[in-house]
Amino acid sequence: MSRLINIKTSETEYYDIAIEKDFSNLLKFIEPLNLIGRKICIVSDSNVAKIYLETIKGILSEKYNVFSFVFEAGEENKNLDTVSDLYEYLILNKFDRKDYLLALGGGVVGDLTGYCAATYLRGIDFIQVPTSLLAQVDSSIGGKTGVDFRSYKNMVGAFHQPKLVYINVSTLNSLSKRQYNSGMGEVIKHGYIKDKSYYNWLLDNKAKIIEKDLETLEEMIYVSCYTKKLVVENDPKEQGERALLNFGHTLGHAIEKLMNFSLYHGECVVLGMIAALNISKAKGYITDEEIKQALLLFEDFEFPVTVKGITVNEVLEVSKSDKKMDKGRIKFIILQEVGNAVIDTNISDTELVASLKDIITA
Ligand code: GLY
Repeated sequence: MSRLINIKTSETEYYDIAIEKDFSNLLKFIEPLNLIGRKICIVSDSNVAKIYLETIKGILSEKYNVFSFVFEAGEENKNLDTVSDLYEYLILNKFDRKDYLLALGGGVVGDLTGYCAATYLRGIDFIQVPTSLLAQVDSSIGGKTGVDFRSYKNMVGAFHQPKLVYINVSTLNSLSKRQYNSGMGEVIKHGYIKDKSYYNWLLDNKAKIIEKDLETLEEMIYVSCYTKKLVVENDPKEQGERALLNFGHTLGHAIEKLMNFSLYHGECVVLGMIAALNISKAKGYITDEEIKQALLLFEDFEFPVTVKGITVNEVLEVSKSDKKMDKGRIKFIILQEVGNAVIDTNISDTELVASLKDIITA
């Protein structure tokens, strides 16, 4: 069964998130965008292009004037150099303001394509076709676009909403186990911050999620996207509630950077979530049992729960240079209970150090 979610971006505008098991309805969802006679540039990376570029080109070429731009896969290429190459490609091929980009790939492709779309000719429209679990439940939705700048992650960017997000859950079959599991970090996060019954559903359906049962994945991605929809519709530019989606990310991003991106994003978010759960427990909001249950769930998805080669002080220092700060204080997300996250700007260094004690090992 396909699923559909509408995300409202203004009083009169919205975009669809179509959740499907193949690409057969892609043209049907693109049709209302009125692209006849327009150019579409598919942007992808070298890994994803190998698997899906010809299929998507074939489908779109039935109706549209299709171009493609492929860059070398890897977070290290999510930068302004790749953006410049893409601008040049669009200029050489005379893309104008009514032409479209289509991001085919994971978070790196979606963020970079979205940023190019936000800035080329002061903004053109784009479509997201996310192929990783992380991109399907998180980065393709809500209009955050951007690239890394020097060693700063997502430091340059813009809010720019896609016109369509088309999710084919079968693409998750082409992910490595580690990539797939890493995306589960963001899925579990949605349960923790907003929806205890979803968290319990994840615990009950763990086996089917691990074996990638497509009906279960469709349901899971639907609920995760719906959770994100509710948050980003209320607070599209992260003035308040949207910061809850950063649960696990402040310390997680610092660990990701200090480990030179050798750990996946979701793996670092899980390490950050464990620290945040430790703080929530120290404040008496959640129980020891809930921490144990969390660790078992992370183990089921083979997440590392400790990390070596960096120090607690380094993590603290890098966290404080992250963009998620408020008047010089870390905007930290903790749980008041499972399914209910809050922003806390009063977490002390002592509390942060204690929360990382069992995670960062010598
Ligand atoms: N990934 C967090 C957000 O979209 O706000």
